[in-house]
Amino acid sequence: MRDLTTTPLGGLGVEPAARVAHGAAGDGIASVLAFLGMPDIVSFAGGFPDPETFPRERVATLFEEFAASGEVTAFQYAPTRGLAGTLDVLAGRLETQEGRRPSDDEFVVTSGAIEALELVTKSFLDPGDLVVVEAPTYLGAIQAFRSFEAELEAVPLDEEGLDVEELERRLRGGLRPKLLYTIPDHQNPAGVTLAAGRREPLVELARRYGFLVVEDVAYRELGFSGETLPSLWSTAPDVVVQAGTTSKTFFPGVRLGWAVGPPEIASRLVDAKQNTDQCAGALGQRLFEESVRRGWIDEQLVRSRALYRRKSELLLAALERSMPAGARWTRPRGGFFSWLTLPEGASSVELAPRAAEAGVGIVPGTLFFPDGRGVDTVRLSFSLVDEALIDDGIERLASALAR
Ligand SMILES: Cc1ncc(COP(=O)(O)O)c(C=O)c1O
Repeated sequence: MRDLTTTPLGGLGVEPAARVAHGAAGDGIASVLAFLGMPDIVSFAGGFPDPETFPRERVATLFEEFAASGEVTAFQYAPTRGLAGTLDVLAGRLETQEGRRPSDDEFVVTSGAIEALELVTKSFLDPGDLVVVEAPTYLGAIQAFRSFEAELEAVPLDEEGLDVEELERRLRGGLRPKLLYTIPDHQNPAGVTLAAGRREPLVELARRYGFLVVEDVAYRELGFSGETLPSLWSTAPDVVVQAGTTSKTFFPGVRLGWAVGPPEIASRLVDAKQNTDQCAGALGQRLFEESVRRGWIDEQLVRSRALYRRKSELLLAALERSMPAGARWTRPRGGFFSWLTLPEGASSVELAPRAAEAGVGIVPGTLFFPDGRGVDTVRLSFSLVDEALIDDGIERLASALAR
């Protein structure tokens, strides 16, 4: 049998990848995930939720109930916008948490936040359109925008999130983005949160210069204290699309998220979704709906916040103990990540393989910049690593760095 992995595609009469797939993944996310499969490695690489948070028994209970009651909805196709019950519980959560309840025409249930980004990209961007991203930003978003041949402009962030003043300087200098993508809460990869005082000015810039803000709230509900700042969407529902996910608060196996934004944009997303998977899986939507109605999601969140807070504290203490002078790192108030800046002259690209040899998985910061910057930075994810191994992992990373 032919080994398809080594056969040139042309030889099989298969055309090279379609145009929109070019420049897409590279080995970006794949290299992040690769560490997860390696035995005996302490991995600070992948930003996965801890399986300890997965609601196994409760999901089993719901399956039994669906079977016993003759439930059809969970097993059937769903409307493209989402099941009415799922839209209702998601709207209820936004109302409670963000103070604004979206109407159905502002809403679409998606197959994860990544699909929400894909739908926005697909229905909004033409090749060559300019997208502003944070530097650094979520790799999946870089890939989504790149796959549609958007031009990316990276605006730096600091401990207070996106540098809105720098953005304004560039806009005054002639920068004209169609869209700005931001992760205001517990950012991936930097672990920082956009300061309250920067939120209103940011959406004001969107109004003044006529661009759409895409707010990714993947970690918003995972603040260690449970407190949140006003979301950009609730601050300015006329210029913001919020992309959300249940991956970190429920479990990613259901691939369930949402996009909420101005009705004319939401309807474009629904049209785009009709051409992709047509609907998010009804099974996940029903599991999530029931879990919200029974108060299970909120209970799970309390436990998850405590777990990730503990892990974050262990990581920060370990960094304090082991890292050499000149290294610095962010102090997350929620989410999964801390962002490490290495001492002057050190390279994370060189460090990553040495760390792997020493049994530690890290992701070089360069992956999170659209322009290859960030060679002195590392994303450290504490979400999945075993609590008992955090100290040892950071010690080994520090020795690899010393070499
Ligand atoms: C900022 C951000 N957005 C979106 C996602 C993907 O979410 P989902 O699993 O819902 O596609 C992630 C997952 O790592 C993320 O970190």
